[in-house]
Formats: sequence, structure tokens, C-alpha cells
Amino acid sequence: MTLERLHKVLSKAGITSRRNAEKLILEGRVKVNNQIITKLGIKVDPCLDEILVENKKISLEKKIYLLLYKPKGYITTLLDKHQRPKVIDLIEGIKERIYPVGRLDFDTSGVLLLTNDGEFSNKLTHPKFKVEKSYLVTFEGYISDQNIKKLRSGVNLEDGLTLPAKIKILQRDKKFTKLLMTLKEGRNRQIKRMGEAINHKVLSLERIAFAGLDLGSLKMGEYRHLTQAEKNRLLGENND
Ligand code: URA
Repeated sequence: MTLERLHKVLSKAGITSRRNAEKLILEGRVKVNNQIITKLGIKVDPCLDEILVENKKISLEKKIYLLLYKPKGYITTLLDKHQRPKVIDLIEGIKERIYPVGRLDFDTSGVLLLTNDGEFSNKLTHPKFKVEKSYLVTFEGYISDQNIKKLRSGVNLEDGLTLPAKIKILQRDKKFTKLLMTLKEGRNRQIKRMGEAINHKVLSLERIAFAGLDLGSLKMGEYRHLTQAEKNRLLGENND
């Protein structure tokens, strides 16, 4: 018998993040063996106890962890009113309900993880974990040293100052500036907005690494399962 904390079981089952799972419990939306639970901290045996969220039995399906080389021209959301191609359509033969970990813009390519593990997704996207993401970016025009400094130290965006970033200049001339940018946050359209803030448009954007995982030998549109060692490293040994 393996007892685990209820909120952890809910997040492992991909219902929601651990924090939200606590909220669900406090709101009385979770039942264990037909009893509403409203206290945090109770332990359950996910194999023996019947756990319901909003009267629906949770399923402890197999956990899937994929790394996709997302091409441009695909959206990371699962629903789109404009009927554009979706990253999920690139994945074949997986019956579990997986979803992207965080997001990449329609016109951004690169590393995108997909999973059905809410806990894993939360660990990689929650701002407090400051997971590193590296991007190859081509900006229009010559970015001055002063503006490079700004990108490094923090740019003022409408949702606040960006965190310090690692910036490496790969190429710079009158027409273009190519940078390798490593950020520890992932706000919506962050690189494009950082560019707009210093008056340099992003011409192309590719995420070449996410949480230490890179594209390796994948071709655009291809994906692979994470190895056990990669999963262990990203999930951590002790998730309490
Ligand atoms: N920054 C952006 O502007 N877009 C992305 O897709 C990722 C980072």
C-alpha cells in the first residue's frame, strides 16, 4: 500500500497543479471513498481509494513526456477559433490526453515539451522555479551595446521589469543582430516584447533549449520520449 498526499495524487493524475489541487480540496470539490474532503494533508492510496473530482473518477493513466521540435506555423493551444494547425496534430499513436508545457508562439519554432503530468508541467512553468530557456533570435537592425546591456539587466515591460538574462552576441551588422538569449522566465511573447521595448523587431525566433533539454538530432516536426534520466532530473527525487 502506497499512501500519498491527496493534492499530490490529483496533480499527478494531471487534474491540475498541486497548488490548485489544494484549492479544489478546500472548496469541497474532492471526494475520497464517497466522503467530501475539505482538509489538506490527508493521505490516500491511489490504487485502492476511489477519488472523485467534481463527481468524476480520476484516472491514474500512464505518464507521457515528449520533446517536440515545434515547427513554425503551429499553435500550442488545444483549441483555436481560426482552425490553424496544432502541435498536438504532430503527435501520433499516443492515446493519453497530453498538452504542451507552457507555450510557444505560432511563428516560433523549437523545443516544446508535452505531457499529461500536471505536476511536471507546473514544475517547469511556475515562475518561482526559474527554469532556463534559450532562444536563437534574429532582430532587425544593429542593437547597440547600450541596448544589449538593457536586455541583459532588465527591460521595462507593461507587466514589469524582466529578470536578468544571459545574452551572447552571435552576429551583428547594420541589417541584423543575432543573439543567443537565455531567460529564466517565460512571459507571454516575452522576447518579442523585449525587442519592441528597444525598437528592434524580432525576425526569427527558435527555442533551442528548455530546462537543459535541447533539440539534439530531431528534425522539425519530430518528437521523442524523454529518457528516464531526463525525467528523474526534471521531476526531482523528492516531490514533497
Ligand atoms: N518569446 C516570444 O516572444 N515568443 C515565444 O514564442 C517565446 C518567447
